[in-house]
Amino acid sequence: MKAVRLGVLASGGGTNLQALLDADLGPGTIEVVLSNVPGCGALERAQKAGIKTELLNHKAYKKRKLYDQALVDALAPYQLDYIVLAGFMRILTPVLLDNYPQRVINIHPSLLPAFPGLDAQGQAFAAGTKLAGCTVHLVDAGVDSGPILAQAAVPVLASDDAEALRLRILAQEHQIFPATIRAVCEGRLKKIEQGYFLDSSPQREAFLQNPSFIAGAKS
Ligand code: GRF
Repeated sequence: MKAVRLGVLASGGGTNLQALLDADLGPGTIEVVLSNVPGCGALERAQKAGIKTELLNHKAYKKRKLYDQALVDALAPYQLDYIVLAGFMRILTPVLLDNYPQRVINIHPSLLPAFPGLDAQGQAFAAGTKLAGCTVHLVDAGVDSGPILAQAAVPVLASDDAEALRLRILAQEHQIFPATIRAVCEGRLKKIEQGYFLDSSPQREAFLQNPSFIAGAKS
């Protein structure tokens, strides 16, 4: 199977990046990790894993569109098939998205469409929701609004504080993100009338044995 070239964009500690680095992504290969935050954990993890890194500090750009053009230029030499957002704390404009149509994938720590935007876990906790979780989705020009590819749900316990809930969600992120990226790299992302779907396969059946994994939800 032909290699599927991935670029991972991250701004933070990089635990989701680490999950991708540690996983078998099938034909997926991480060609580059790009960050907007100098010295962030994600860059350190990439360097430790021997992956090429790029630093593009958004503070050097006055407009979002100019920053996104710089992103496009920095990523072009890597000839990426997909851009994977693993905690990249920037809203992307069509300047980047139009270069990678339906080929930018994000992980968000809520059961979208509930709680888009910043501190989704805190929003869920404050709302008193009893079921929280995470979502892998295609990125469009909205905020956390693109077609849903996979979700995992976790309970909110009476003993939780916001941090405990964040960690329970994060553990599920580390499961469904690599699994979904692998499925996409294997060419199992299909557009159907009702939305996007990950085709059935032995791997998907294995994911489904984790009862909190819900793949192929309608967009
Ligand atoms: C994760 O909660 C992810 O869902 C969100 O940003 C956070 C990144 O965490 N988009 P990490 O840097 O992967 O640890």
